[in-house]
Amino acid sequence: MFKCVAIVGATGAVGQEFLSLIDKRNLQTESIKLLASARSAGKKVAFNGRDLTVEELTPDSFNGVDLALFSAGGSISKEYAPIAANAGCVVVDNSSAFRMDPATPLVVPEVNPEDVRNHKGIIANPNCSTIIMVVPVWPLHQVNPIKRIVVSTYQAASGAGQAAMLELEQETRDVLAGKQVTPNIFPYQYAFNLFSHNSDVGDNGYNTEEMKMVNETRKMFHCEGIQVTATCVRVPVMRAHSEAINLQFTNPITPDEVRDVLSKAPGVRIVDQRSPQHYPMPIDASGKDDVLVGRIRQDISQPDGCGIDMFVSGDQLLKGAALNAVQIAELL
Ligand code: A2P
Repeated sequence: MFKCVAIVGATGAVGQEFLSLIDKRNLQTESIKLLASARSAGKKVAFNGRDLTVEELTPDSFNGVDLALFSAGGSISKEYAPIAANAGCVVVDNSSAFRMDPATPLVVPEVNPEDVRNHKGIIANPNCSTIIMVVPVWPLHQVNPIKRIVVSTYQAASGAGQAAMLELEQETRDVLAGKQVTPNIFPYQYAFNLFSHNSDVGDNGYNTEEMKMVNETRKMFHCEGIQVTATCVRVPVMRAHSEAINLQFTNPITPDEVRDVLSKAPGVRIVDQRSPQHYPMPIDASGKDDVLVGRIRQDISQPDGCGIDMFVSGDQLLKGAALNAVQIAELL
C-alpha cells in the first residue's frame, strides 16, 4: 500500500491514463496528488466519485509522496525526478531523460522485471514504440535467439501528447471544410498525410526515435549483440502505434512455432485471420492492454528458414506508456 501517489503531468494524455489505471487496477494508495504546470493549478479532476485538485509542480511537491509517475516531458523529469528521489519517493519516469543512464533500470515487466530491484530511486519506462515491439519479440528471443530486427513504425498522434491529438482532429476538420491547414505541433500537415518521425536526426541519419528502439532494446534484453534497424513514421491515426517487424533468428523457425510461443506470452493477443482478413489495427488496439500480433509468416527472403515477418498494434497511451509504468509500480 502506498501512502501517496503523485502524477506529474496529470492533465496530459498519459497523465489521464495514469489516473484511470490507478482506479481500474486498484493500485493501493491512501491518497493521490495531481501535479502539472501553473496553468493547470486549481483545475478539478473527477476521480472515484470525488474531485481532485491539480497542484502546481514545485520542488516541495514530493514531501510525503512515496511513488511518483512522471509524464511531463524530459526537461521536467531531468529537473524534478532527482528531487523526488532525494525526498524518498520512487519515480517511474515516462520520459527519455534517464533511460540510457546505466544506473537507472529500464523495465518492461514482461521482459526484465528483475531489473526493478536495482533502482536507486528512479525507474525508466521505455519509449512507446520500443515497448510495443519488445512485448512480442522477447518471448521469441527466449526460445530462439534473435540476431537482427528490422522494424518500421506507423505511429499515432497520441505519442506526441494531447495537443498533437487535437491538432490531428482540427486539421482533419479543416481539410474537409476546404480550409487552410496550419500545423503547430508537427512540422507538416498531419491529416491525410504521413511523415518521417519528427524527432532530431543524428549524424548517422537515424532520428532519435529510431535510435531509442535500437539502444533500449539492447539494454532491456541485456544483449549488445542484437542488431536493430528502425524506420519511424507518423501516420494520421489518433491512438495506438503499429509496427511491421522482420526478425532473423539464430535457428530455423516456423510461423506455427511463433504462434505457439506467442499464444502463451503475457501481454500479447494473436489477431491473425486470413479469411476473412482480420489483422492488428490501431482501432482494435486502442483502449486495450494487450499488443495485437498478426500477419505472422515465413520471410521468403531468408531461404534458411530463420526469418519471420509480423505486424503488431499496441495502445501507445496504455502499454506504450501509462500501463507499463503502473505495472512497474505493481512490481514494487
Ligand atoms: P499543463 O496541462 O498544465 O500544461 P501532454 O504529454 O499530453 O502534452 O501533457 C504534458 C503534461 O505535462 C501536462 O500535464 C502538462 O501540464 C505537464 N507540464 C508541461 N509543462 C509543465 C511544467 N513546466 N511543470 C509541470 N507540468 C508541466
